[in-house]
Amino acid sequence: MAAGPVPGALLPETAEIDAAGRLSVGGVDLVDLADRLGTPLFVYDELHLRRRCREAVAAFGDGVAYGSKAFGCLAMAQLAAEEGMCLDVATGGELHVALAAGVAAARLVLHGNNKSDAELARAIELGAKVVVDSFDELDRLDALLAEGFGRPPLPLRVLVRVTPGIEAHTHEFVRTGQVDSKFGFGLESGDAGRAVARVRATEGMRLIGVHLHIGSQIFALDSFERAVEVMAGFVAPLDVEELCVGGGLGVAYVAGEQAPTITDWARAVRGACRSAGIDARVTAEPGRAIAATAGLTLYRVGTVKDVPGVRTYVSVDGGMSDNPRPVLYGSGYETFLPRATDAPRPWRVSVVGKHCESGDVVVRDADVPADLAVGDVLCTPVTGAYGHSMASNYNKVPRPAVVFVRNAEARVVVRRETESDLIRLDESLR
Ligand code: LLP
Repeated sequence: MAAGPVPGALLPETAEIDAAGRLSVGGVDLVDLADRLGTPLFVYDELHLRRRCREAVAAFGDGVAYGSKAFGCLAMAQLAAEEGMCLDVATGGELHVALAAGVAAARLVLHGNNKSDAELARAIELGAKVVVDSFDELDRLDALLAEGFGRPPLPLRVLVRVTPGIEAHTHEFVRTGQVDSKFGFGLESGDAGRAVARVRATEGMRLIGVHLHIGSQIFALDSFERAVEVMAGFVAPLDVEELCVGGGLGVAYVAGEQAPTITDWARAVRGACRSAGIDARVTAEPGRAIAATAGLTLYRVGTVKDVPGVRTYVSVDGGMSDNPRPVLYGSGYETFLPRATDAPRPWRVSVVGKHCESGDVVVRDADVPADLAVGDVLCTPVTGAYGHSMASNYNKVPRPAVVFVRNAEARVVVRRETESDLIRLDESLR
């Protein structure tokens, strides 16, 4: 059966289709935008991003953090902070971006299973919150605090990351709550309790809460509820200010998928906390649920090759360097032509990138309109999370530009890399 047009639920909120079938987002025609700014291009609906941030703040209250790994740049950090979110940063690099964007250090939460001395010292000095992940990290923090780092603003606000022993229904690579994990202190083993006791006994540290993160791209709210239940016996008696349930809320990528909203998620988590007798303030760190559907990628079709009786390859001008998710996790996407958004998509093809390996697939089984041709602008929606942030320069392909659209205006927030950027760090032949 021929696939119908791309479902509207996979498009950003301000998407509009005109009488001719052309798609605009934020009042900006996407084919025109691709002509003007080149391809591949990451396009974000600024209003959609802002609404998701507002929804998260309304649902969880102050303290909810944007998981900046999903999509990070100065404009996004600023936007999330303006909308009242804190920022979850997983490395010194993400910390640097947040600070450069002007986000107050007190609104930052530093994560990581292997934070360096330099990263920890910076967090102490700045007064950012730290989610402690291991005993080695506690040793390092002790040593840094003993050296007199960061006076004031002491004491350092600390959350202890606990692995509840939950197997969320998601891809193995993005599951994190199970016992067999590089992250956090095990609940079962008693390590979580030992970590809490140690933090509480350390002058210069203040235990403000407990953190867990069971994985990413999770649709089943009962996975979160289950995690809260498992944690209840541990958290409730601690009488801490905060329980952070991490990120992980899934989004719909392809037709037929349906994900809970941030509001649904918060309701489920808070309800589970109430039932479990947890009084702590419940916070979270959504990344994907904020950024994914707000963004889409525009490519230009360069070649169409038919292998008779086998398949048709539609090659675009990006690929695994701007979206490694299909290769890494087998993730699926929809495809459509923004010049004919409401057209049926009867033709089954494989959309592939321009990299020199056969695994460079954008969408293995892609439905496209019958008249797709070389030169067309092709769109993959729901690429706003873990696309640009995981982009690489493989095959020395410059990373795409990122543009925010709003009120019929397009604002380039990250410029397209140039060929000179590709040798910017090389030391020889200078
Ligand atoms: N908090 C912590 C501690 C995390 O490790 C993560 C994501 C988040 C929050 C945000 O999770 P989200 O709401 O975005 O699911 N590259 C993979 C996803 C990896 C997620 C890593 N941690 C992907 O493209 O699917």
